[in-house]
Amino acid sequence: MIQTKLKINANKECSHIAPEIYGQFSEHLGRCIYEGIYVGEDSDIPNKNGIRTDVVEALKELKVPVLRWPGGCFADEYHWKDGIGPEENRRHMVNSNWGGVVEDNSFGTHEFMDLCEQIGCEPYLAVNMGSGTVAEAADWVEYLTADGESDMAKLRAKNGHKEPWKIKYLGIGNENWGCGGNMSADYYANEYKKYQTFCREYGDNHLYKIACGPSADDYEWTKELLKRVNGCHTRGISLHYYTLPTGDWGHKGSATEFDEKEYYQTIQQTMRMDEVIKGHLAVMDKYDPDHKISLIVDEWGTWYDVEPGMNPGFLYQQNTMRDAIVAAYNLNLFNKHSDRIAMANIAQAVNVLQAMILTQADQLVKTPTYEVFWMYRDHQNATLVESHMLPGMTGTEEVWVPALSESCSIQEKNGEKILTITLSNASLKDPAQIAIELEEGMQFAGEASITELTGEVHAHNTFEQPDCIMHQDKIEQWSGKTKTIEVGPCSVYKVSVHVKA
Ligand code: AHR
Repeated sequence: MIQTKLKINANKECSHIAPEIYGQFSEHLGRCIYEGIYVGEDSDIPNKNGIRTDVVEALKELKVPVLRWPGGCFADEYHWKDGIGPEENRRHMVNSNWGGVVEDNSFGTHEFMDLCEQIGCEPYLAVNMGSGTVAEAADWVEYLTADGESDMAKLRAKNGHKEPWKIKYLGIGNENWGCGGNMSADYYANEYKKYQTFCREYGDNHLYKIACGPSADDYEWTKELLKRVNGCHTRGISLHYYTLPTGDWGHKGSATEFDEKEYYQTIQQTMRMDEVIKGHLAVMDKYDPDHKISLIVDEWGTWYDVEPGMNPGFLYQQNTMRDAIVAAYNLNLFNKHSDRIAMANIAQAVNVLQAMILTQADQLVKTPTYEVFWMYRDHQNATLVESHMLPGMTGTEEVWVPALSESCSIQEKNGEKILTITLSNASLKDPAQIAIELEEGMQFAGEASITELTGEVHAHNTFEQPDCIMHQDKIEQWSGKTKTIEVGPCSVYKVSVHVKA
C-alpha cells in the first residue's frame, strides 16, 4: 500500500486552465478522416453532411475545445484549393506520408469547418509551408475570413458559404525540421516570418499564430527559433513529444501485449514530458522573458506498432489501461504548467495513435483514453490551485517510477466553489491511500461526485466488447478538512467536491 498526503491550498490560485489543453488532432492519415469522421452523404452510416453523427456526439461529450487539421506531415503537402468546390472536380493525389493511398480531397475546408461547427470547437489550421507558397497560404486565410468582394470571398460564397468564418489558431507549417521540409531553425524562422506577414487579419478576425517548435528535447531549435521569431506576431510555439515504450522508433512494441517491465518503461518515457517541458520553458524564459509566447503541445500521446494486418502507414493501434494512465499523467502535468501551456492536442481523435475513438464500419468504441478525457472535463476553464503530494514509487527491479500524479482546480458554479481533484496511480500492484488535506481554513462542504476508471493494465474495449473499461460514478458527502481516499492499482480517480471557507 502506498500511503501519502495530498495537501491542497484551494485559496492559492495559480493559473487559468485553458480549455484548449484538452484539444484534439485530426489528420488525413489512415482512417482518421475517411471512415473515422467522414463517410459521405450517401453512406448508410448515420451522418450530417457526410460527417458521422456518432463520432460528433462522442466528441461533443468530451467538450472538445479545439481540433487541429489537416496534419501533421500531411499539412505540408496539402493544397487547400484541391479540397473546395464540386467533389467530382477535386484533385486526387497520393498521400505519400501515410500509406501511399489516394486522397480524393472530398473532405476539405468547408467539410472541416462544418465538423468544427457540429462539435462546437475552435478550428486550428496548419498551413502548408513545406511544399506550398506564401500566396497559397495568404489566399487560404483570405478565403476563410475575408468579407466583401474580394475574389477569395466570392469564391467561398460560390462554394456555399457567404459569411466569412472566424479562424483563431493558425500553425505555420508542421515539423519543418523533418517531414515539413527538413529545414534548419534559422531557415525556418525566416520562412515563418515571411509566411506570417502575409497571413492577414480581415475585419475583426484575430489570428493566434503558432510557429513550428521543437521535437522532444531539441532545446537548440527552441533557442534559435525564439531568437528570431519573438516579436513577429508569434503567440505560440509547438512541441511534439510522443511516448514510445522504450523510446526506440525501431522497436516500438505492441499496444496490447507487453510485460511489466515494458509497462513501467512506458510510464518512465511519458514522464519525460515533464523534463522536456521544463527544458523548453527555461529556454523560453531567456528569449521571451515577458512570457508573450505560449507552449503549444500540439502532438503528444503513445505510439506503438500498428495492429497486426493493418497498413503500417495507417498508425492504427489499440488502447488499454496503460494509455489511460499515460493520458491522466500528461493531463495532470499540462494543468500544472497551465501558466505557460495554452493548448495541447493529443494524436489523434479517431483511429490513429492514442485515439479517443475507434470505428469499424458503423460501430464505434470509446477507448480508455476517451474515458480519461471525459473525467477531466471539469478542469477546462477552471483555475489551477496549489497542491503537493509525495508520489510514492513503484515499478520492477529494473524500472522504478513515481506512482502517483495529481492536479487540482477550482471553479465557481451558482456562487458555490467546486474543487476538482484528478489522480492517477501507475502502480500495477499497490493501491494508494491518500489523505487529502485542505489548507488555510477551507473545508469540504457536501456533495462529492466521484468517478473512477480502473482495470487490468492490458484491458481494452473492442468492437465485440465495447464496455470492458468504463468509468464508474458515485456520490458521497464530504465534510471537514481532511478526507482519506483509496485509489486502486492502475487507476484514474476524479472528485469534484463543494468546498467553503
Ligand atoms: O501524428 C502522426 C505524425 O506524427 C504527424 O503527422 C507528424 O507531425 C508526427 O511526426
